[in-house]
Amino acid sequence: MTETADHRDSYPPSAEFAASANADAALYERASADREAFWAEQASRLHWHQPWDQVLDWSDAPVAKWFAGGRLNVAYNCVDRHVLDGHGDQVAIHWEGEPGDSRAITYRELLAEVSRAANYLTELGLAAGDRVAIYMPMVPEAVVAMLACARLGLTHSVVFAGFSPTALRQRVDDASARLIITTDGQWRRGKAAPLKEAVDEALFANGDVPHSVEHVLVVRRTEIEVPWTEGRDLWWHETVAQASPEHEAQPFDAEHPLFILYTSGTTGKPKGILHTSGGYLTQTSYTHHNVFDHKAGQDVYWCTADIGWVTGHSYIVYGPLSNRATQVVYEGTPNFPDEHRHWQIVEKYGVSIYYTAPTLVRTFMKWGREIPAAHDLSSIRLLGSVGEPINPEAWRWYRDVIGAGAVPIVDTWWQTETGSIMISPLPGVTATKPGAAMAPLPGISALVVDEEGKPVQRGETEANGYLVLDQPWPSMLRGIWGDMERYRATYWERYAEQGWYFAGDGAKLDADGDLWVLGRVDDVMNVSGHRISTAEVESALVGHSGVAEAAVVGASDETTGQGIVAFVILTAEAKDTGTALVDELKAEVAREISPIARPREIHVVPELPKTRSGKIMRRLLRDVAEGRELGDTSTLVDPNVFEAIRATKA
Ligand code: WTA
Repeated sequence: MTETADHRDSYPPSAEFAASANADAALYERASADREAFWAEQASRLHWHQPWDQVLDWSDAPVAKWFAGGRLNVAYNCVDRHVLDGHGDQVAIHWEGEPGDSRAITYRELLAEVSRAANYLTELGLAAGDRVAIYMPMVPEAVVAMLACARLGLTHSVVFAGFSPTALRQRVDDASARLIITTDGQWRRGKAAPLKEAVDEALFANGDVPHSVEHVLVVRRTEIEVPWTEGRDLWWHETVAQASPEHEAQPFDAEHPLFILYTSGTTGKPKGILHTSGGYLTQTSYTHHNVFDHKAGQDVYWCTADIGWVTGHSYIVYGPLSNRATQVVYEGTPNFPDEHRHWQIVEKYGVSIYYTAPTLVRTFMKWGREIPAAHDLSSIRLLGSVGEPINPEAWRWYRDVIGAGAVPIVDTWWQTETGSIMISPLPGVTATKPGAAMAPLPGISALVVDEEGKPVQRGETEANGYLVLDQPWPSMLRGIWGDMERYRATYWERYAEQGWYFAGDGAKLDADGDLWVLGRVDDVMNVSGHRISTAEVESALVGHSGVAEAAVVGASDETTGQGIVAFVILTAEAKDTGTALVDELKAEVAREISPIARPREIHVVPELPKTRSGKIMRRLLRDVAEGRELGDTSTLVDPNVFEAIRATKA
């Protein structure tokens, strides 16, 4: 995966694509001539109940105000507007259930459902500013729930349904959520797995420790049996489904909080990334339109992410719906009932835009090209990638096998914190290169700099380049929920003098000046496109009575990008160093955090390499995990520990 393409390996857009592309080169010119005027032009894509007075107010940096004074309703923009414009009969969501059931939901039906939910949430006494946790699989009601919150000015906090009760409780407590919306269970490879049960476990987990949750609203999906608390628990079909389908959306301030989404940081405690309304919707809408070349009423769009991640927020819910997309939402895994599932769905709905993660592309590669080759994929006219650097080999396979060797690929770099795509080719404009995110989008400014903040030169590939964003952007995070100090410290301290946002990613500029994002430079791992902090996994490991100390690193992995490798020192009592304990520890991490955090390898070691000041030297552990020669060990207390560690790995 260290393979690099040279600058001749470039794929210019076809004349045909360029001729009808949404984007053109003039976007860059307009944006650099007057950035604020450019963003004002983009904000005009939306319906504002009241126009803004000021495009950007940066006087309270690093907390931006975009479109100050403006008022809008995010759900109105994603739903009502399209119905009022005469597109009520257009399908908004082609929903495909894992067991094979499906539903087509038009914009008119979506409006009725969102209105019912908004009416019922109001009846429950929820009011603008309250927080609602959404812990649901990929069912249409999850999208309805998010939009109903947006409609009422409630701040949603979606918690990935693969997260453990402990992780859910942590997030519910941090945001003091008054309501949890969930399902009875979720389909996973043909089996109904309980979910409501996990909510109960979360709420009872800490014994009698009081929580903020007044009600749990449950959508019936799998018909699995659920534990029930009378008075607290409510069935969606007995409440929301009975409410009135008429609801008038009220406008909210452009800076009204829209959602909190937790993401891993470098400590064990996840950060609640806060996003607001007007700027967020402006940039998700603008990027979805231009980066995916989306044509309303023509394209069938499919983003394979889960709503539990930011990609699901911005590129399943807010971006596409604001642009009146017709999209596929799929509930299940790509290999149920077999590895043909995605391509059958593409064929069935005539998907034209397909957006996924490199880890899935590499999985498809492993399954073999004859699987997609058995299907008619000719409807596909654009492919997207997100979540981690896409290695050139996977990029080429994606283009050749899925894209008939012809369609543009957009490699989109962004983060939970940035809210929308920041760095990406523009289809129809940019000549793309396998593995490169290419350049900041019009309206966005990014630099690659060294430790001191000096720009790294093009072609200077040996330098340690860091990616920074040197100008505020509309969908930027407005802070970390409940911890503004951490917000400043995490993103703004490193280049405080210059006032730059530190993204936490390494980057380089190639000889042509094109930008390559190289991956995290902090203690955050990227496993199958999911951010997991080493500290979180370490704390789950030391939570086990058999573990005295743990160090976790992300080691490169052919399929998942990185795999989690843990080194543990056992307690005196835990004499058993056999696989039974290792398996138990893996299961413990999966239980404590999520199956996505399950370590690939756990090595029981007698000691951990530490500096004289007691810091674990992760860099050296990564060398060991990846089977490399050791780097500089001069600051180690005892370089011999590696002999011992190596011996246990062999
Ligand atoms: C990584 C996902 C290289 C990066 C939208 C970033 C990428 C982190 C790319 C954010 C890409 C995402 N090329 N790296 N195209 N896209 N990343 O918050 O390390 O889940 O900082 O947001 O994923 O992950 P997050």
